[in-house]
Amino acid sequence: MTTALITGSTAGIGAAFARRLAADGHNLVLVARDAERLRLQAAELHDRHNIEAEVLAADLSEEAGVAAVEARLSDTRHPVELLVNNAGFGNKGAFLDVPLADELTMLKVHCEAVLRLTAAATARMRKRGRGAVVNVASVAAFVPRGTYGASKAWVVQFTQGAARDLAGSGIRLMALCPGFVRTEFHERAGMGTDNIPSWMWLDADKLVAAAMGDLARGRTVSIPDPRYKTLMGLVKLVPRSVLSGLSSRTGRRYGPN
Ligand SMILES: NC(=O)c1ccc[n+]([C@@H]2O[C@H](COP(=O)([O-])OP(=O)(O)OC[C@H]3O[C@@H](n4cnc5c(N)ncnc54)[C@H](OP(=O)(O)O)[C@@H]3O)[C@@H](O)[C@H]2O)c1
Repeated sequence: MTTALITGSTAGIGAAFARRLAADGHNLVLVARDAERLRLQAAELHDRHNIEAEVLAADLSEEAGVAAVEARLSDTRHPVELLVNNAGFGNKGAFLDVPLADELTMLKVHCEAVLRLTAAATARMRKRGRGAVVNVASVAAFVPRGTYGASKAWVVQFTQGAARDLAGSGIRLMALCPGFVRTEFHERAGMGTDNIPSWMWLDADKLVAAAMGDLARGRTVSIPDPRYKTLMGLVKLVPRSVLSGLSSRTGRRYGPN
């Protein structure tokens, strides 16, 4: 049995990874802030799939939280073979409407934590000559979409670069770029979703199944749906000025609260 560590495991895409990996027989280390929710998730996955599910409550926007997960990834007695850097969120509002502190928190969770946890995990994986890292980015990485899109562009570039640098080490790294997925993400960010066409929504479990297939195939970037593969192909042909108008409007309608 191998062990996978998932950040942001309690909801949405992270929870779908947890279900899939538990069903495949992996032991899990589940990371998020809400300790009670983690405990319930661990008990359910253990009972349903007969796997060991460890709980690690950590806030990845805080030094102590990142350090605690780094320490777990560095534990040579209980090695982690698959790291899924998934925790993330959206801020409510366009640039200058969002407090700068919230933008900086986003960079901590989406960039600094991803960098540090990938480094901690791959340092151990390189010694063992095997392992994998999935960094959850977004198709927002490919279009102008505020600090969120910029942070996810960093995730894609970083992952591709690290994959190249670690080629031949036995470690696979992949940036996963979903389109709109039905999770808690939009509600948490206070985003209205009524201007997102129904055909653009993806199912988290199907997304994860496609992502695991791409990881097995050795892809370094995964856009796991034909609709979004086509869209991202078209994106390359559309002038940036037109693209920024379209992408900054779709799915960025903020409610009053
Ligand atoms: N949903 C989409 O349309 C979509 C599209 C493209 C990419 N993504 C990306 O997919 C990833 C997962 O998003 P989701 O849609 O599944 O969101 P979600 O349903 O809101 O789940 C977010 C998860 O991250 C955890 N989390 C949030 N902030 C954290 C922090 N500071 N420290 C530790 N854990 C934290 C949450 O648990 P706690 O609150 O208990 O910490 C929760 O488990 C994100 O990186 C997001 O940017 C989402």
